[in-house]
Amino acid sequence: MTHELHDITLVVNGRSHPIRVEARRTLADAIREECGLTGTHLGCEHGVCGACTVLLDDQPVRACLMFAVQADGRAIRTVEGLAHGDTLSPLQKAFIEQHALQCGYCTPGFLMLGTAILEQNPDIGDEELIEILSSNLCRCTGYANILRAVRAAAAAMREEGVA
Ligand code: FES
Ligand code: FES
Repeated sequence: MTHELHDITLVVNGRSHPIRVEARRTLADAIREECGLTGTHLGCEHGVCGACTVLLDDQPVRACLMFAVQADGRAIRTVEGLAHGDTLSPLQKAFIEQHALQCGYCTPGFLMLGTAILEQNPDIGDEELIEILSSNLCRCTGYANILRAVRAAAAAMREEGVA
């Protein structure tokens, strides 16, 4: 059985990737395999763990639950786009300083989710922060240091006048 192929453009971290995909190709697979950006991880592949979280038009989405064709021409951001050259984003720095990762498998997803939180509401209260962060799973850290890192990044951004 042959499947129709679609010519689309994935715009990832500001760079256009013209690709040809089947309609059922997930955004996560296309980002990893067609665009070669393997920082977006796949865990459960059915919307539960959040490891595949990317930003689509600045909103966090689970790339394993979307088809690549749905993201045609839209602005996608992945973990590879967070640092500017050798300068890590405030959240990436905070993850290191607060020891918010162990195996690192969940880290790209948490970084993208945390980036969206910090961009949308840097003054977010703890209760809401915990609620949002609990949508992603981490098997190693116990979450406390991830929470601490997002809080620390928010404070650093306020200090630098970024937020
Ligand atoms: S891999 Fe997408 S939510 Fe788990
Ligand atoms: S650091 Fe290992 S799953 Fe989160």
